[in-house]
Amino acid sequence: MAMISSKVGRRALFHSQRNVGGFSFPVRLSSKRLFRTIIISLAFIALFPPIFFHFRLRRFHQIQLRKCGWLNNPPLVCAHGGDSTKAFPNTMDAYEFALRSQVDCIEIDVSRSLDGVLFALHDRDLQRISGNNTSKVGYLIETQIKELGIDYQSALKSDAGIVPTVEDALKLISGSVRQVILDAKVGPPSYEKGLAKDILSVVERTQCKNCLVWAKSDSLARDVIKQASDVMVGYIVMIDPSTGFRTNLLRMKGADVVGVYHPLIDEKLVRILHGRNKKVYAWTVDDVNSMQKMLFERVDAVVTSNPTLLQRRMQDIRTECLEEGFSFSQ
Ligand SMILES: *[C@@H]1O[C@H](CO)[C@@H](O)[C@H](O)[C@H]1NC(C)=O
Ligand SMILES: *[C@@H]1O[C@H](CO)[C@@H](O)[C@H](O)[C@H]1NC(C)=O
Repeated sequence: MAMISSKVGRRALFHSQRNVGGFSFPVRLSSKRLFRTIIISLAFIALFPPIFFHFRLRRFHQIQLRKCGWLNNPPLVCAHGGDSTKAFPNTMDAYEFALRSQVDCIEIDVSRSLDGVLFALHDRDLQRISGNNTSKVGYLIETQIKELGIDYQSALKSDAGIVPTVEDALKLISGSVRQVILDAKVGPPSYEKGLAKDILSVVERTQCKNCLVWAKSDSLARDVIKQASDVMVGYIVMIDPSTGFRTNLLRMKGADVVGVYHPLIDEKLVRILHGRNKKVYAWTVDDVNSMQKMLFERVDAVVTSNPTLLQRRMQDIRTECLEEGFSFSQ
């Protein structure tokens, strides 16, 4: 813009000088041209800065909108297994810490024991508790799991009621958060068999109206959709370990939520899922740079093991945005 205007101005000035010096045209005509050149130059000088600053301002607003736009509709802060930076994951202590930090949402790992009890427990945590890196919830019965929990608890010298059932966990948290995610773990020996029914019966018993059920198993998610049309269901998008490719983005009509492995999330993915009226929940986001990226991409929820870190980052960005004069609902 600057180059064009100065070039045109210079050329016009050059022409009029030659005309003035050549005496070959009537003076009235060349002074008219000179006058016109001056007017055009003045117009450029007058118009250029406002246009330049208009674009600069627009660019500034675009950058600000990307940084601050999420403030109009902040994502849910979801504590993965409670606040597992302060207590053993999926214990009542971990949930209490998360509630005290006023998280919006808690994700509970749901595993079924051999005798059909749903525990808030991940195989990984069972292996930590038992010291046996191959043990699985599905092979143990309720009393064995509880005993392991009690042994571990006394070894840690903690009062935490280790290994709550899903029912106990829901009774504690569901009334105090906006959303509970039940992350259903499917494993041997009984896999999906009867699992949707077992989960739905706990949801009903605890009258959990804000429960969302998701699972890496599509067949389990479909079972839940089939058996309860009023319960929110999600499916998972991740890198399929057997193929190395991303699983299909759109593959379950009845699901309201898509839980996406966070490195896969970009503007396009969010646009496609939002275009189909599906909410995007990012998991499991534990470092501050990824947290910030998820805010900028405008996901609907961020699942994290460190909810207070995410809350602090959100508060800091909010303060910066307000200081920079960001106004809501742009
Ligand atoms: C499990 O633990 C045993 C003994 O400590 C070790 O040899 C084995 O490699 C471990 N397996 C896995 C899958 O971590
Ligand atoms: C570890 O767990 C596996 C599977 O549950 C079991 O077969 C094995 O006996 C256990 N090992 C020990 C040392 O308890």
